[in-house]
Amino acid sequence: MTFNRSIKIAPSILSADFANFGAEIQAIEAQGADWVHIDVMDGHFVPNLTFGPPAVKAFRPHVKTVMDVHLMISPVDAYIDAYAEAGADILTAHIEAGPHTHRTLQAIKGAGMKAGVALNPGTPAQAVEHLLDLTDLICVMTVNPGFGGQKFIDMTDKIRTLRAMIGDREVHIEIDGGVDTATAPLVAAAGADVLVAGSAVFRGGSVDMPSVYGDNIKAIRAAAQG
Ligand code: DX5
Ligand code: ZN
Repeated sequence: MTFNRSIKIAPSILSADFANFGAEIQAIEAQGADWVHIDVMDGHFVPNLTFGPPAVKAFRPHVKTVMDVHLMISPVDAYIDAYAEAGADILTAHIEAGPHTHRTLQAIKGAGMKAGVALNPGTPAQAVEHLLDLTDLICVMTVNPGFGGQKFIDMTDKIRTLRAMIGDREVHIEIDGGVDTATAPLVAAAGADVLVAGSAVFRGGSVDMPSVYGDNIKAIRAAAQG
């Protein structure tokens, strides 16, 4: 993975056909996805349940771009090696998931992955100030995590603060939740470079009509690029 700040679209397979993940991943990549975003939920940190390490491992051979794994689980540390083994390129943990995020980020990097830290809407930018040198990606949640298809919560002030705090460090700012053609320009202008989109990418398409995914990805990218 080489670092750049150009806009990257990361479709969340939370909005894909759950009976057909391999074909869905291949379809979004063929249609221009830059990364593939995988939402891991534990029914405890968030009130929903999705995939564990064996499922993520099964996705891996289908992902030719970047496998971006967003853990919405608590605790995190006991599972880090399992997600490394499953083939995650980036592993993101929530800062709210436990008291020792610094240790968690060290362990993620120690296991050979890029380390991400996610912030719920109520968590201030300053919470990551002393973690920046251990962080490859900051995920700014623009919904309360747990479900796709929720309404965007405006976090542009937080994004601007983070962008200034990062300076010239190679840290991505990822936005997750409610990203579509209307909200993408706001977050991109504030300094985000990775846009996660579930419903706005998969809406109206299918593996039999993949060009709709392509149109949706192009429209979000164009909106973000202004
Ligand atoms: C929310 C997840 C998101 C979600 C985004 O908890 O982390 O990745 O799938 O879905 P949309 O784009 O539909 O808001
Ligand atoms: Zn996510």
